[in-house]
Amino acid sequence: MLLTNSYRLLCIGLLLNLGLCLSSGTDPKETEVSKFFRHLDLIPDLLDLGPQEFLNVTYPGQIKADRGIQLQPMQVRDEPKVKWVSSEENYYTLLMTDPDAPDRKNPKFKEYLHWLVLNIPGNQLSMGDVRVAYMGATPPKDSGLHRYAFLLYKQTDHLKFDFKPVPRHSEENRMNFSTKSFAEKYKLGHPLAGNFFTSEWSKDVPVLNKANIQGGQGQTLSL
Ligand SMILES: *[C@@H]1O[C@H](CO)[C@@H](O)[C@H](O)[C@H]1NC(C)=O
Ligand SMILES: *[C@@H]1O[C@H](CO)[C@@H](O)[C@H](O)[C@H]1NC(C)=O
Repeated sequence: MLLTNSYRLLCIGLLLNLGLCLSSGTDPKETEVSKFFRHLDLIPDLLDLGPQEFLNVTYPGQIKADRGIQLQPMQVRDEPKVKWVSSEENYYTLLMTDPDAPDRKNPKFKEYLHWLVLNIPGNQLSMGDVRVAYMGATPPKDSGLHRYAFLLYKQTDHLKFDFKPVPRHSEENRMNFSTKSFAEKYKLGHPLAGNFFTSEWSKDVPVLNKANIQGGQGQTLSL
């Protein structure tokens, strides 16, 4: 009790002095990365505990998706290069997800899965099993700023994932994804590395949507 109270005081002190306060107060693993995730509420919206390292995510044209930088939908149209330090004997899972679907204030389709690559040997992303093909950010008009997070998990082994393949031009199975449940189901633990960018609607979005959804009829929900 005493300890909790003094921790609370310390937290209040930190909050006043630095604008930083660990909500749990007892988390020993708060890192530079998790501070950024917490700052934009990706903790707790997406994760309970933040990544240990920054993931290097670079879009064509040397555009880095780093620390919440705001990028244009057109800049993130094509798949980025993702780099991390790995041990070769391990398999990894990489995903990109938007917890603000369709809108941060009312995320009723939370989360929208943009990319899912499984069983990546070491850091050889191209050798992984692309279960959900990459789809760029196309936030709907007037839906505010969306957060797009990349998360890398270390798998316990080569795993059999029960997740239907989703091709590039399909919206099926992308909605109502839960990073937390997924990580729990496959015992992935907390993400090893992560990063994120933000984006909002631009006049390019309708064009990008059309390209995303082949023969799309009517309004798409692409986020
Ligand atoms: C990630 O980017 C940083 C800064 O650009 C660089 O120093 C580091 O070597 C990169 N890490 C990997 C694994 O590519
Ligand atoms: C996703 O969840 C929302 C709200 O819970 C529900 O209305 C919607 O039908 C779900 N969509 C899919 C594709 O499962």
